[in-house]
Amino acid sequence: MSQTRHAALMADPRIAEARALIQSALAEHRSAVTAVCGPDPALAADYDASVEAIGQIRGRGLFFPYLGSGLGNGPYVELDDGSIKLDFISGIGVHGWGHGDAGITDAAIDAALQDTIMQGNLQQNTVSLEVGKLLVDGANRWQSDGRFSHCFLTTTGAMANENAYKILLQNKAPASRALAFAGNFSGRTLGMCWVTDKAANRVGVPQTIQTDYIPHFNPDRPEVSTRRALYKLERLLARYPGQHALMSFELVLGEGGYYAGTTEFYRALMQRCKDAGIAVHVDEVQTFGRTTEMYAFQHFGLDDLVDVVSVGKVTQVCATVFTNAVNPKPGLLSQTFTGATAAFHAAKVIIEGLRDGGFYGDSGRNVQLHNHFVAGIKGIGERHPGWVKGPFGVGAMVGFTPFGGDPAKNKALLAQMYKDGLLGFTAGKNPTRMRFLMPLGVVTEAQIDDAVRILEISMAAVA
Ligand SMILES: Cc1ncc(COP(=O)(O)O)c(C=O)c1O
Repeated sequence: MSQTRHAALMADPRIAEARALIQSALAEHRSAVTAVCGPDPALAADYDASVEAIGQIRGRGLFFPYLGSGLGNGPYVELDDGSIKLDFISGIGVHGWGHGDAGITDAAIDAALQDTIMQGNLQQNTVSLEVGKLLVDGANRWQSDGRFSHCFLTTTGAMANENAYKILLQNKAPASRALAFAGNFSGRTLGMCWVTDKAANRVGVPQTIQTDYIPHFNPDRPEVSTRRALYKLERLLARYPGQHALMSFELVLGEGGYYAGTTEFYRALMQRCKDAGIAVHVDEVQTFGRTTEMYAFQHFGLDDLVDVVSVGKVTQVCATVFTNAVNPKPGLLSQTFTGATAAFHAAKVIIEGLRDGGFYGDSGRNVQLHNHFVAGIKGIGERHPGWVKGPFGVGAMVGFTPFGGDPAKNKALLAQMYKDGLLGFTAGKNPTRMRFLMPLGVVTEAQIDDAVRILEISMAAVA
């Protein structure tokens, strides 16, 4: 049977031999990264200088003084000062397979043996097709008769959203307004900073997209949430008749504080949008992979109502997945890069891992991780009344409100956790929450216990 010259390269026994050597060295060195520890004093001075220098180059200091060395083991990661942190934020959801994973390294070796560093629109390798197909097939629940047909790949979550907006604005031109949830985060591009519900992120930027905000689900008043949101939607539809092209749904508010709605809440809003000729966009840049289904719109049973979905972060390559009914005219979407070849190869491993790894369903891995982590955080609350409200979130997105949600206290806790070796991140405001995006693909229950142990120590230090 005929094969390409590249296939012959990949079948060369020297490649397998080199791969095995790299993997055995990696396994050996990774095994030294298994628990949180402080910096090596001999490396600390250079490290501090590098942290200072990167702040200078960026024009702004780092949020955490974090510079990785390049070695990690699951959720444990070595920094360049020799310290080891327990990473339960994963670059805000990116490193879903943790640090230094053998499968991802293997994917990077495959990528290194490809001819180019970047994939693009003009020239791309077959891996682009494989990743796009996985995302479309996953959106169709692996059935051949699903509604989703197309996937446009890109480099960032904000660009995936930009492309979704361009598709849906073109479809409903000249309608130019968008609807989105209050508290949503959609990215920081020229367009998306006007959708993201945070005025501080667009200071001095001229308005690009006129966005009207709908209140998200309020867990303290579930019975009135749907009525309140529908009422607001009706008022906006009456005020701007025919002017909305789309509504964006961030189904679990990420930056906004890990608020999740219900199927009934989302279906009511989506159906009303559809009735008004307004397309439904779901922003899954943070939720993808982490709920009880691969896509959060599937978790909430919204498959029949969604027109366009954006994914990112854990997928490594970002994408806009859409139905044929909204396929845009030529010229609307294109860009030089769609992602690095290594990102594409890693994307394939991760999405296949999510598909085949038992993550989904009511007793899938994501639910097991969620329950274990939630039980641990609740345990802290039981031992220390007043420290914990919640926990909140869905699947492998877990957050809670520490100390009544006081922003200053939460900031102090975040810094203390960093010092103690646990990486998390804050979310929302009034109350401010602490959130975790654990590396769902590799994290173990014992490592979750380690995170809870450190969290309790950090909370005690700032209580
Ligand atoms: C829900 C959501 N949408 C969009 C984005 C923007 O993604 P990126 O930072 O890759 O541009 C983010 C990033 O945090 C996000 O959480």
